[in-house]
Amino acid sequence: MIPESLKTELQARIAAAITPREAAVDVMKELQRHYGWLTDEAVGEAAELLGLTSLQVEELATFYEMIYRRPVGKRVIHVCDSISCWAVGGETMLAHLARRLGVEPGETTGDGIFTLLPCCCLGNCGEGPTMMVGDTLYGRLTLESIDEILARERAVIS
Ligand code: FES
Repeated sequence: MIPESLKTELQARIAAAITPREAAVDVMKELQRHYGWLTDEAVGEAAELLGLTSLQVEELATFYEMIYRRPVGKRVIHVCDSISCWAVGGETMLAHLARRLGVEPGETTGDGIFTLLPCCCLGNCGEGPTMMVGDTLYGRLTLESIDEILARERAVIS
């Protein structure tokens, strides 16, 4: 159950939106931040706040790649697998990340820190290969820069 303060804040954001549906992604992201992922309980709470059905929230949740309907690590790594990044080595970067983390794409590391997810274009096509770790975008990836980024992220989390 979300704290009353978060509920009040979300109600204010919904009231400021043109339609409650417009605030849906914002609400889901905040609930996800609170729970770590969008739990069934969170879907129900979002539905109640937005005046939508749980099914309508579920439909929206499954449409957005950054909304997680199952548990994820503390940092989700989205690796772009769209054409511009693929053309400059995106696949190699994804394979390197999988090897370094010891997981397959879609999985979470045993220590619960990282979840590795391929994704569609991150809007950084001119600077590929690109990945996003948490909310931070990284472009022009190399095998070396990936190792540095992972080490830095691990240090911040630990
Ligand atoms: S194709 Fe990778 S960021 Fe657009």
